[in-house]
Amino acid sequence: MSDNSEFSNWKYSNFLHNENHNFNENDILNVLSKNEIDEAYKTISKWENYSPTSLINLNKLAKKLKLNNIFYKDESKRFKLKSFKALGGAYAVEKITSGNKKITISTATAGNHGRSVAWGSKNQGLKCKIFISSYVSENRAEVMRSFGADVIRVNGNYEDSLNECIKQSQQNNWQIVQDVAWKDYLLVPKLTMAGYSVMMKEISDQINNQKISHIILQAGVGGMAAAMIAGISRYLDHVPQIIVVEPESAACVLASIKTGKIEKILIEKESIMGGMSCGEVSLVPWKILKNSVNYCVTISDDYVSKTVKLLAKGEFSDEKIVGGECSTPGPISLIGLCNDQQKKEIVNLNVNSNVLLIGCEGDADENLYQELLKKDD
Ligand SMILES: Cc1ncc(COP(=O)(O)O)c(C=O)c1O
Repeated sequence: MSDNSEFSNWKYSNFLHNENHNFNENDILNVLSKNEIDEAYKTISKWENYSPTSLINLNKLAKKLKLNNIFYKDESKRFKLKSFKALGGAYAVEKITSGNKKITISTATAGNHGRSVAWGSKNQGLKCKIFISSYVSENRAEVMRSFGADVIRVNGNYEDSLNECIKQSQQNNWQIVQDVAWKDYLLVPKLTMAGYSVMMKEISDQINNQKISHIILQAGVGGMAAAMIAGISRYLDHVPQIIVVEPESAACVLASIKTGKIEKILIEKESIMGGMSCGEVSLVPWKILKNSVNYCVTISDDYVSKTVKLLAKGEFSDEKIVGGECSTPGPISLIGLCNDQQKKEIVNLNVNSNVLLIGCEGDADENLYQELLKKDD
């Protein structure tokens, strides 16, 4: 990458300023409490083979974009599960069953959450039933089976797989461990978020007192983003500008921030960023996101494979990075914002900025990752 011409024409799709922005640490920690956050770190940091994932400096990209630092939290090696999701589902399984070995766990998943739940169930010696839609690759199903889970394929989309999971779980008295909240189902999603917040604990230890000025958070149903914001409230002294990024085809957080209430959107085309292709923000995350997010940005799928390749070739950093499709929105939206001088100024991205990006997953879907690497674009 001799200059930034390789991505000088990259664009974000939509941009929205949150008119209701009012970051209130107490309100946020009322939703996910300090105790819940601390308990997750205490538990997970004692798991076998636990170690913090790397915080990589994207020094080459920072230089091109004329920013001070770009930090990239690399979740590709999280417990060999290859995504941050390892922290959520498995933690919820452990907490919700508290040693009762007779419980059968169930969940519906786009892939990574189910992998975590299957792994957590295996670690706790529990039976596990995983419901997947037609869109989930056989490769991902195979990984869940390798953790001893029964994988049940359901015709239709994610929502259909969730409905079937709820139906069969009620009939068979299985314990659902879902990362999405609905009325009267709030505890487990909160536990998964508490698990995710471990990332922010690690980051706060890794930044050596440097102030993060901006954080870009990917969102599907918003659990990860909200968990990181709770982590900011718990662990950081300084509140960064918070930017949520979503696929343009599944921008449910943006739609909700726009009107100030949860909006369900119709997904007409599934994004290649499968884990983020969600039509409705979840209840618990929404309580955190609605007032704490400064800006929402959406991106198209057009730059996903290009970004996977740039990460892999070490074009952004000295180190080569294995970043799957859901790890690309951070760099894509940041480049898009920096290419738009007016937005760059509004968001206050400049030579003093220390931007934090979340590399949510590695090659969690190995076949798709190889395809993206080979894509000729
Ligand atoms: C692999 C993967 N799945 C799912 C998500 C979305 O998480 P959530 O549904 O909690 O917003 C992300 C990140 O946004 C992700 O990287």
